[in-house]
Parts: sequence; structure tokens; C-alpha cells
Amino acid sequence: MPTLRERLEQSKPLSGPVPMSALSLAGERIMLVGGAGFIGHHLALGCRGLGAEVMVVDNLQINNLVKLVSDPGIEPTVRRLHLNFVLDRFEMMREAGVDIVNVDARAMSDLTEPFSEFAPTKVVHLAAISSAVIADQHPGLAYDIQINTLRNVLELSRMKTAQVGQIMFMSSSTVYGDFETDSVDETVRPRPRGVYANGKYIGERMVREAWRLHHIPYTIIRPSALYGVRCISQRVSQKFMENALLNKPLYLEGGGGGRLDFTVIEDLVQGMLRALALETGLAMTFNLTYGNARTIAELADILKEYVPQVRIEERPPAPQKPKRGTLEIDRARAYLGFEPEIPLEIGYRRYCEWYLEEWDRLKRN
Ligand SMILES: NC(=O)c1ccc[n+]([C@@H]2O[C@H](COP(=O)([O-])OP(=O)(O)OC[C@H]3O[C@@H](n4cnc5c(N)ncnc54)[C@H](O)[C@@H]3O)[C@@H](O)[C@H]2O)c1
Repeated sequence: MPTLRERLEQSKPLSGPVPMSALSLAGERIMLVGGAGFIGHHLALGCRGLGAEVMVVDNLQINNLVKLVSDPGIEPTVRRLHLNFVLDRFEMMREAGVDIVNVDARAMSDLTEPFSEFAPTKVVHLAAISSAVIADQHPGLAYDIQINTLRNVLELSRMKTAQVGQIMFMSSSTVYGDFETDSVDETVRPRPRGVYANGKYIGERMVREAWRLHHIPYTIIRPSALYGVRCISQRVSQKFMENALLNKPLYLEGGGGGRLDFTVIEDLVQGMLRALALETGLAMTFNLTYGNARTIAELADILKEYVPQVRIEERPPAPQKPKRGTLEIDRARAYLGFEPEIPLEIGYRRYCEWYLEEWDRLKRN
């Protein structure tokens, strides 16, 4: 096996619009920690599609099976539907040949065995409470999951630097805090607010320190406002649809003028696969979004085409939510050949159509 230094010397950024069909992950063994979630299962399927061996490690607790069977507050139709989505994820991963291991990555003793047996060449860290609202309600648990799972991944990778060629850390656009300009690039200094954003910022710093101290190559990914099929992460795109179908109003905070860089999961996964396909990974941070913020009111307008009777109510702006906008993606374009393909008009319409079909199928059965 080449040494880390040799691998770093061979590492070349992908520049220019390299087509996805030219990418390969053959020979890679990619471990996804927190990989049974929304992003993780899409990424697992994408990695398999490019020829990698994939192991998903997940304790199935947050936004997953344990939550769905144990939380008494979930509306019954929504619970049934979400269970279907989560079971579909497992079915799809199993059919694609993804190895799924039920492990709590906070426990080093539990993570060590799959890590040594699978011997990953790349590790993607996704485990977190992925909602800023819920993280603020459970700060101890949110930091515990975010930081201790990452600590274990870094520690195990530190002992295998000749083997682990890249750590990909899922950060968030929330690290930027309140946007002072309409758009931000990766050189803007983060000013995180709240438990979720601060946990992400601490995570980024841990990953950068691992690079400084042990030369573990990293890719930090900052996505924003994701949406797409089989999502149960309670983000606005999903909440709007579910409220509409349950005859609840859509709440437009501050009149719906707040802007978010909505990104469909397929575009995010394209960028992540490009970053994983780098020979060793760079030591770099990337915004990975559609790259054009849209208002929440625009999202609601699309939804209205599908559920015309939906009630829309205005609410005062939520003071705890940061002011957001566009994440500039020129760096990802330059280094990864990333080019998002699906604007909100297409992606959210597809999502609405998919969700309505799933809802009808459930009601029919
Ligand atoms: N969805 C978004 O819009 C978005 C945006 C920015 C960043 N992110 C980040 O990307 C990552 C993945 O997001 P997602 O939307 O797929 O979230 P998700 O909640 O669907 O997935 C997270 C997964 O982590 C697992 N997990 C939690 N604690 C664990 C533990 N101790 N051990 C093993 N597994 C554990 C959960 O069971 C879940 O399956 C998160 O770190 C999130 O903060 C998401």
C-alpha cells in the first residue's frame, strides 16, 4: 500500500466539468457514520453506483427507526409514511450491497470492531441531531452525538493514517451565522449561533486539527436547506407538504421573505461523490448547494399548485433563526467540477409529486 505522503503527492483536484460517468470509486472502502439517515442512504447508493464497497454504521435513533416507533407525538399517518420511507432506505441499500451495521458511534468500544474489520479507505461523518431547533432543545445530547462520534472517527483514523485517505465531515451553512451580505463564500469567517451551528463549527475545527497534527486529509461539506425523497428530517420543504396534507396551515415567518439556498439531494450527492473521487481528498472546505437562495414564499407557491386549498398564515420572524442567503459554490466548481443541475422549480415539483403518490398509496392500503 502506498504511504500517505505518496498518496498526497499523487492527489490531483478534479478541475473542469468532469462528467459523473468518468468518475470511479472502485477499490475504495467507504464507511458512512450516521449513514442510514437521509443524506447517508442516498450517498451510500451513489458510492455503490461508482463501484465502492460501502459500510453504513448507524444507531438508528435520531430521525430513524427508534424515534419512529417510540415518539408518541408523531401523527399516525405521518408515522406510517415515515416508517415506509425508512424501510425503503434499508431495502434499497441491501439490494445495492451496502453493509449495514447497528452501532452507536459514541462508544469507541462499539465502533472499533467494524472499523478494523471493514478497514475503510474513506470515512464520511454524518451522525448528528440534524435539526437546529431540536439541537437547541437537547444541547447535551446534540453535543454528545456531534462531538463524541467525530472524536472516535478521528481517533481510529489517526491510528490508520496509511489506510484512511480522506475524512469527509458534514458541516452546515449555519456555521456562517447571520449573513451580512446576500451571499457567502468559504473565506467568510464563521459566526455560529446556537447549539447545532456551534457543534458543527467545533467539528470543523477538530477535523482541521487532525489534518495539522496527523495529516489526515479532509473535506468539510457545508450544505443548505436540503430536500428530496425519503427525507424525514423535519425541514421546511417536508413540513410544508405534511402540514398541507393534514389540513394544517403553512406558517410563513416574517411573511415568507426569508431566503434559503434550497438544494435537492441529488445535487448534493453529486458534489460529495466528486469530492470522494479525489485520490486522497484535499484539506478543504466546500459550500455544496444549488447556489441561488430563494424565498420561503416561493417554496409555498410551488406547493400550492399541488394542494390548492392549503391555508397560509403569516407569523412574526423567528428571532433564533439566522438570516441566510446564497452560498457561493465557485470553489466546488473549480476543484470538484461540481455543477448543480436541478433548480427549485423542478426539484420541489418532483418532490411534491413523489410525496403525493406515497400519501395516496398509504391511504389506499
Ligand atoms: N439535511 C440537511 O438539510 C442538512 C444540511 C446541512 C447539514 N446536514 C448534516 O448532514 C448530516 C446528515 O444529515 P441528514 O439530513 O442525513 O440527517 P439524519 O438525521 O437523517 O441522519 C443522521 C443519522 O445519524 C444517525 N446517528 C445519530 N446518532 C448516532 C450515533 N451516536 N451513532 C450512529 N449513528 C447515529 C441517526 O440515526 C441518523 O440515521 C448531519 O450531520 C446534518 O447535521 C444536513
